[in-house]
Amino acid sequence: MVEQGLATADEVRECLNHWKGLGDDARIEKLVELLVDQGVATPRQLERARQQTEVRASSAGDQIPGYKVLQKLGEGAMAKVYKAKQVSLDRIVAIKVLPRRAHEDPQFVERFYAEGRAAAKLNHPNIVQAIDVGQAGGRHYFVMEYVEGESVSEYLQEHKRYSEPDALKVVIQIAEALNHAHERGFIHRDVKPKNIMLTADGTAKLADMGLARQVSDREAAEAESGKAFGTPYYISPEQIRGEVDVDFRCDIYGLGATFYNMVTGRVPFTGKSPSEVMRKHLREAPKPPDHINPDLSAGVSEIIEVMLAKDRKKRYNSTAHLLEDLRSVAEGQAPMQARKTFDMAYLADIEKSSGGEEEMIADADGGAVPLAQQPVFWGLIVSLAMNIILLIAMVMALSR
Ligand SMILES: Nc1ncnc2c1ncn2[C@@H]1O[C@H](COP(=O)(O)OP(=O)(O)OP(=O)(O)O)[C@@H](O)[C@H]1O
Ligand SMILES: [Mg+2]
Repeated sequence: MVEQGLATADEVRECLNHWKGLGDDARIEKLVELLVDQGVATPRQLERARQQTEVRASSAGDQIPGYKVLQKLGEGAMAKVYKAKQVSLDRIVAIKVLPRRAHEDPQFVERFYAEGRAAAKLNHPNIVQAIDVGQAGGRHYFVMEYVEGESVSEYLQEHKRYSEPDALKVVIQIAEALNHAHERGFIHRDVKPKNIMLTADGTAKLADMGLARQVSDREAAEAESGKAFGTPYYISPEQIRGEVDVDFRCDIYGLGATFYNMVTGRVPFTGKSPSEVMRKHLREAPKPPDHINPDLSAGVSEIIEVMLAKDRKKRYNSTAHLLEDLRSVAEGQAPMQARKTFDMAYLADIEKSSGGEEEMIADADGGAVPLAQQPVFWGLIVSLAMNIILLIAMVMALSR
């Protein structure tokens, strides 16, 4: 209590003397009560002091030179997070301390440092700033900006879902963060409601950018089995398949699944086990978000559909395009990039089914011959003819 500035030494001594005079039975309880009774501390201060003492007692506490650990903030699937003071700069930071088993894999340790250092160079208002990586007391740690506020996951647990405009405000900010990272060659790989923090002024910040993972994305996802809002709900099909060339499009999928959850109050796929959820990510089409929430605009539904395409070639081909659509829809306009992406994917499918890309490219006259064999071609012709008829009818009506 004294060390933490919650009471003076005299005040505590006085209470202790009083306490010593009491019978053995009630001692522990009474000291706490006395501190409150005598107006030395409030129950809240005592609770905080207790938490801090626990942190000290744990091996991670106070062992990181230059930082004073204040309290435990939370615990995820792979690490514990503490609130701490960076003594030199007198600022509050968050420190993620990895479990001891992290030391057993030298390749992981190398990646942890390389990615942590690289991420510290990223600087964006919507990315939780990575500050430092290091090792102390036999543990690796990752120091980052401390964010006061709640995560999207916590908000969802409390309010079930977001209104469309509120969801868009958050998703646009995270897409901006991702665009910044993607342009610089970074992929997050674990975009989900738990990794989006919200500050009181409405700023959304993407957490865990640059945090290397010890295991494959699929293993990490499975490690979270049984936990509400766990990773398997947001993992992309290519990460499930363990593909090695995973790119920025896995973040578009993760953000798409997060967006889906935010506006419908449900994850795209549920299941009794992580593998069932993952199987659905690979094979099943999610229920369209506007079927679950009829208040949703068609534009948002279209964007989510493109973000959640199983084949990453059918997702947005750049995060900048996604951002463009999100902004359009927020302004009440149509998501043009989603439509273009959809049309291109449709045409590519037609090309594939009509004998392969090479054939089309080899056709110097622009591929009109194979296209003419497709229903879409005739659809276009019919639509063009109808438009011409309509135009003639209008001209005739006007000239009368
Ligand atoms: N920069 C931060 N500032 C404040 N609190 C944080 C910060 N980073 C993490 N936390 C808190 O610590 C908790 C644990 O974070 P951690 O990243 O280890 O797990 P997670 O994101 O909840 O889940 P997972 O391990 O699946 O990623 C978070 O839920 C959050 O409450
Ligand atoms: Mg996290």
